[in-house]
Amino acid sequence: MSNSNQLKEIANNLVLKGKGILAADESNPTCKKRFESIGVESSFESRNEYRDILFTSDGIENFISGVILFDETLRQSTTCDKKTPFPELLNSKGIIPGIKVDKGANNLEGFPNEKATSGLDGLDERLAEYYKLGARFAKWRAVITIGDDIPTDACIQANAHSLARYASKCQQAGIVPIVEPEVLMDGTHTIETCNNVTSRTLKIVFEQLSMYNVLLEGIILKPNMIISAINCPVQADIEKVADMTYACLKENVPENVPGIAFLSGGQSGDLATSHLKKMNETHKDMPWNLTFSYGRALQHDTLNTWKGKNENRKAAQEAFIIRAKNNSLATFDSGIQILEPK
Ligand code: 13P
Repeated sequence: MSNSNQLKEIANNLVLKGKGILAADESNPTCKKRFESIGVESSFESRNEYRDILFTSDGIENFISGVILFDETLRQSTTCDKKTPFPELLNSKGIIPGIKVDKGANNLEGFPNEKATSGLDGLDERLAEYYKLGARFAKWRAVITIGDDIPTDACIQANAHSLARYASKCQQAGIVPIVEPEVLMDGTHTIETCNNVTSRTLKIVFEQLSMYNVLLEGIILKPNMIISAINCPVQADIEKVADMTYACLKENVPENVPGIAFLSGGQSGDLATSHLKKMNETHKDMPWNLTFSYGRALQHDTLNTWKGKNENRKAAQEAFIIRAKNNSLATFDSGIQILEPK
């Protein structure tokens, strides 16, 4: 198969109806924060155990098309059986292994409170190794902050440029890039401001992708939804979020992008599911498949049920499957009933 056809096939498989992506690529410092919230020490072993709980959940393959891993996790193995490497385990279930390849967001020099993502140095070599280890898609997260007089054009352009170069490098390595320009929901801004900034960002991102000859049929876009900031006094309702998000995407995302997989960005598990469900139910004429690539919204219940205790493993897995199944149902365009988490 040609490189382009392979990329298109992987991208399409990641966004098949009824399936979405599990973002389990928390860096070690982020894992430390998550584990602290449940009183568990973050170590090589505890991180391995937690990821094992997620990936060996019974029936995960019915709802999850791909899992984004962190460098350490890509090299880890199951803890319960004969030590199967995680990429091999996921492949055996028909789940595509993915890898976070950016090196995090750092201060953008000369632009207070703004960030640019690093990680282009040495990326070709890392991608070649990740491909050998089984990764077939990748993720790069750019962070756009809303505040007084920000984001600046410089910040959006710098991030869009890196996303485009990353995407081009991935495709040359036979890896589908998830392009993730995240407009943060931190702050007090309104949904209208989120809409303006996201629209401005997506426009520039697609200009850069086009400039770098990125094959749009071989990417997945991972945007934020259009929502009110977490501390905005007026919180837009589910319908408004669904309508404004759809309109923003329709205006800025070319139709040949096969799929859009949202990040949850700090929304509760319930809201992240309800927003996705509403969009798919209301807007049936979408050119792309609309699905999830959630981290926190999929994992919150699992983490809080597990609490680092082996006796909670099964209950933690059940909590994960309920969330995964609900989000899977939310990718369909009919009013399918959503299960209550336990
Ligand atoms: P959240 O869904 O927790 O925002 O994480 C998704 C992700 O991959 C962020 O890069």
